[in-house]
Amino acid sequence: MTELALFCRTLIGLACASGLVVGFSMTPPSLDVPKDDLVIPVYETLRITCRGQRTLAWTWPDPTLVAQELNVRQAKQLPSSAPQRQRSAVVSECEGQPGHPYCKRLVLRGAQAKDTGYYRCYYANVKAIIDGTTAVSVYAFIRDPEQPFLLRAGQNSNLETLLITRHSTHVTVPCLVTVPDLNVTLHAYPTPLETADMKWNNKLGWTVPRRVVDNPMVLGIVCEARLNGKSYQSAYLIHNTGSKVYDVKLFPEDPVELMVGENLTLNCTALVEFNTGVDIKWAFPGAESNNMVSIQSHREALSDATEAASILTIPSVNVTDSGAYVCNVTSMTPLTHSKCSSQCTKSHSST
Ligand SMILES: *[C@@H]1O[C@H](CO)[C@@H](O)[C@H](O)[C@H]1NC(C)=O
Ligand SMILES: *[C@@H]1O[C@H](CO)[C@@H](O)[C@H](O)[C@H]1NC(C)=O
Ligand SMILES: *[C@@H]1O[C@H](CO)[C@@H](O)[C@H](O)[C@H]1NC(C)=O
Ligand SMILES: *[C@@H]1O[C@H](CO)[C@@H](O)[C@H](O)[C@H]1NC(C)=O
Ligand SMILES: *[C@@H]1O[C@H](CO)[C@@H](O)[C@H](O)[C@H]1NC(C)=O
Repeated sequence: MTELALFCRTLIGLACASGLVVGFSMTPPSLDVPKDDLVIPVYETLRITCRGQRTLAWTWPDPTLVAQELNVRQAKQLPSSAPQRQRSAVVSECEGQPGHPYCKRLVLRGAQAKDTGYYRCYYANVKAIIDGTTAVSVYAFIRDPEQPFLLRAGQNSNLETLLITRHSTHVTVPCLVTVPDLNVTLHAYPTPLETADMKWNNKLGWTVPRRVVDNPMVLGIVCEARLNGKSYQSAYLIHNTGSKVYDVKLFPEDPVELMVGENLTLNCTALVEFNTGVDIKWAFPGAESNNMVSIQSHREALSDATEAASILTIPSVNVTDSGAYVCNVTSMTPLTHSKCSSQCTKSHSST
């Protein structure tokens, strides 16, 4: 038996209803690049400057890429940039401007296809990282005509498994691209796809309605593109979950914004095989100190699986309740892999 742990997280932002603003009272950081997606030729340099009202930090798509951190003085001593193909990242402090005393510049030399994705600058000392409030991000395509389909760091084959759960209404085939205007077509095996209602997004891939892969049964899906006379593919095996694969969801899925005094209710639901024991644990800012928290468990047998839910309720939330809420589902059944996504979206401050 293997122990499987899955977890979901959500972010809670709190704004205060009184005259005093306790929540996010700062303006978001800003970038010196256009709001549109950036397109950088492979092996070239990506350079973005971020300015804001508090200490800033950066994140980038490849978690294995380590950046050298420099202060203003060290940054000035750095030899000015001779173009170099070798990949390296430097995050350096830069001089502030009136109204924006903090400045942090990200320079990625020798950018590679796997550096395609979101570059996010955020206020380092706030709990909730929310674009438009405490963070700003830009999507960069590192255009590599030799590798038009994106292979993430750690992903070493072109064949991935797509898990489709019983409850999903749509299936996203995540064939991400490094060439933003790549014309990607979708093919299915063993039967061709019914192509109505499919949507392409160069930052997500193809999204197809669930029924398209269900009927008739599709076993594999391939994204295909032609570039400079060559054909490229990104292939996926479809794995219909049956009752063995777990789907863990945290509702609401988007970050929650509450006024002080409102009740917070989060619902963590796991879809599990019959008779599977599950342990749902919560981690959140007030876990130790708040004795008003109530957690209720539910278990319901569906026709072909069991739905286990844990409902967390915090009456009359306080500012100290803001932060990340994580629900951790552990089972005692062997399984390959499955994952929950974390999301950060818009929140707004209230005065
Ligand atoms: C995709 O197709 C459009 C319209 O046919 C064309 O303008 C564009 O150049 C194509 N993109 C690539 C990367 O070939
Ligand atoms: C919050 O929960 C309490 C019970 O814990 C209930 O009496 C109250 O009506 C709820 N408030 C709102 C706004 O739902
Ligand atoms: C929790 O969410 C699941 C999935 O949507 C739903 O079936 C269940 O009724 C919810 N439970 C509560 C108490 O809201
Ligand atoms: C709300 O949090 C503040 C500290 O941030 C604390 O002093 C106050 O007692 C809390 N109020 C409640 C109702 O828990
Ligand atoms: C989830 O729970 C398991 C087992 O209790 C633990 O090993 C794991 O670290 C937890 N993960 C998180 C993110 O809390």
